[in-house]
Amino acid sequence: MSEFDRDRFEEIFGKGKLPDRISVPGRVNLIGEHTDYNDGLVLPVAINRYVHVTGRTRPDRWITVHSTAFREQHRFSRKNKMNPSLSGWKRFAEGIIRTILKNADEQVGMDLLVENDLPVGGGLSSSAAFAAGLGTIAARLNGIELQPLEFARTLQEMEHEYAGVECGIMDQLSVLISRMDNALLIDCRSLQIDHIPIPAGWSLVVLDTGVRHDLAFSEYSERRHQCAEIIELYSRAGKEFTSLRDVSLHDLDLLEKITGSMGVFLRRCRHVISENLRVTEAASALQASDEKRIGRLFKESHKSLKNDFEVTCPELDSMVEAACHAPGCIAARMTGGGFGGCTVNFVTGGMAEKFINTTLSDYRKKTGQNGTALPVSSIGGIMSCEGKLQ
Ligand code: GLA
Repeated sequence: MSEFDRDRFEEIFGKGKLPDRISVPGRVNLIGEHTDYNDGLVLPVAINRYVHVTGRTRPDRWITVHSTAFREQHRFSRKNKMNPSLSGWKRFAEGIIRTILKNADEQVGMDLLVENDLPVGGGLSSSAAFAAGLGTIAARLNGIELQPLEFARTLQEMEHEYAGVECGIMDQLSVLISRMDNALLIDCRSLQIDHIPIPAGWSLVVLDTGVRHDLAFSEYSERRHQCAEIIELYSRAGKEFTSLRDVSLHDLDLLEKITGSMGVFLRRCRHVISENLRVTEAASALQASDEKRIGRLFKESHKSLKNDFEVTCPELDSMVEAACHAPGCIAARMTGGGFGGCTVNFVTGGMAEKFINTTLSDYRKKTGQNGTALPVSSIGGIMSCEGKLQ
């Protein structure tokens, strides 16, 4: 966690009382990709890379948000309506603050500084961390209490409404309720959670391909709609499912019959079903410190995301391939929504440096891109929670 630099805050907002501060971790998803919005299973880990939000009240009613990542400032007052032409991070920030404060009668002004040491748009949940940080500080400064599940749901809705991404609930829950040294197994249907210890002696390494594809947003929403369409197709054939969580491998025959040559639906569906099975198996593999099994599961997951769900890209494929041949590699796959961003890797303890150097140099040779490494460790979320979320 970076030290709070009061001078820096005061350079931007002027001298005043000591501000409040929160550091919200990012997350890396070990396995369970594109399953959260299908009521499925996910296994993310909160990581020690953060979005820091520092804030204090001010005597007037103006709210100012300064983002160092975007090198911009946004200023608004709750007295006025939100400007409909507002877009990007400013719209998201204003939407979050207005929503959190909607039941607070007093119009308190605030100065808020957002600083990142989490890469933006890299599939490490910088967006959920940004939202959770702004929401938490806005709530604290206004004496509002937040409950983990309700807060996670609000943040997810904000993402849909103000950031235009119809995400599931994985990112929000992981940055809020993860536990240090553990992965968070979430059943996105029942919201049952379990903390799964990460084997001692395994290092967690995130590798950033350095590429971001614009396709990410539109393709994400296309995948989401395709999954909903599959449910619709089944329903027309007399099979009522609520979500892809209800569909099992032997239901694929019927989908094949209905869709005929439309293999794309079949492949999307097969990914989600098989990925859920892999999450359960991965949780047991972690508990058994089974390197071979976790290696196989990551490999299968990546292959399924590449061929069936089609959300990888040549850079992600090259990075994973390079990692699989590097010394010390236990497991490697893409992580997050896809189309660029990062890969997640388990590496034998003490081998991380060698693994990183070999993988990145091989990746550079294959793609001409300069990837970067983030050696990370598992950290706790900003709220704690046990058992079933209420
Ligand atoms: C993004 C979304 C998540 C999840 C992943 C894919 O990170 O925000 O809700 O759907 O993609 O697993």
